[in-house]
Amino acid sequence: MTTSSAPVILGVESSCDETGFGIVSEGTLLGQGLASSASQHAEFGGVVPEIAARAHLEAAVPTLQIALADAGVELGDISHVAVTSGPGLATAVHVGLAAAKSIAWSLDVPLYGVHHLAGHAAADTLEHGPLPERSIVLIVSGGHTSILAVGDLVRDPIEHLGDTLDDAAGEAFDKVSRLLGLGYPGGPAISRAAVGGDPAAFSFPRAMMRPGDDPFTFSFSGLKTSVARTVEALERAGEEVPVSDIAASFEQAVVDVLVAKSVRAVTERGLDTLVIVGGVAANARLREVARRRCDAEGIDLRIPPPRLCTDNGAMIAAVGDLLVRSGAEPSGLRIAADPSAVLHGAQLPLLR
Ligand code: KG4
Ligand code: ZN
Repeated sequence: MTTSSAPVILGVESSCDETGFGIVSEGTLLGQGLASSASQHAEFGGVVPEIAARAHLEAAVPTLQIALADAGVELGDISHVAVTSGPGLATAVHVGLAAAKSIAWSLDVPLYGVHHLAGHAAADTLEHGPLPERSIVLIVSGGHTSILAVGDLVRDPIEHLGDTLDDAAGEAFDKVSRLLGLGYPGGPAISRAAVGGDPAAFSFPRAMMRPGDDPFTFSFSGLKTSVARTVEALERAGEEVPVSDIAASFEQAVVDVLVAKSVRAVTERGLDTLVIVGGVAANARLREVARRRCDAEGIDLRIPPPRLCTDNGAMIAAVGDLLVRSGAEPSGLRIAADPSAVLHGAQLPLLR
């Protein structure tokens, strides 16, 4: 129970298949609740928006109750509400947005519309404190892969040094998992399969790494195709598919490119901090390879613990908390969902 007049921010997340509520006060995570509909999408090999939306609707109130109990606060203690208003699956975002509006309206407290990807970056502040004045942030999620130059997360514009031309890193994990028959979500399934596999067994392509290629732009669709061709060729030849070696080699190919490009961004910009966030940042091989490279280069590497890498409400509350403390204007109850919002700033403007 908080007794001071410190702001207590409730964050609401529903952009994909996790229903998340988190409660943050002055940079500290007080508690959170999280429900996932991932198992309901497994048989379809990917998230089905209508199923996700229905699951959010069912999970919203119980998950909020879990977050409040975890934080030891009453609903009436909430002083501000922050919600993912984009990007994400429109039907899914709408459920969280409607819940957040109802809570903010009934409590008569300000509401902030937050960019989901800024939430991923803010998640790290809950573990490692405020970001330095400037840093490079690698966002690797199911829908996005970007190298960003970030200053003050909620005051400064966010600069994209590079994005992916096609598939996001997480999407590549999900697609390769499906073609190896490992199921959804693909990242954890591939990671499990890769344990004990030889990461050098197959030399899958590392795209956009040639001299002359844009140093900070990614492409992962060729890698996915290469894995598919490899599997097809083995099956045609009647050979057993070495799932573990393929998973490890695929993982290594993704990780090599992610780490090489983001470390280059840090050194080229003359900075000393790399922050890696988003669902794929939960990947053990990525965490280990990035740690080794950053140690060798004298770069301060920040990666949130795995539970704060994948989608959650705490990260949205973290952005809300930063917005409140920076004196940002609330978005208000008229805020609309922006399912394809590009990341330019942490708060999403009102759509007209
Ligand atoms: O950030 P996130 O939870 O949701 C989006 O904003 O998209 O990221 C989900 C993505 C999925 O593609 C999932 O396969 C991937 O993150 N992921 C992982 C791991 N855990 C989740 N990828 C690799 N290794 C993991 N351990
Ligand atoms: Zn996400």
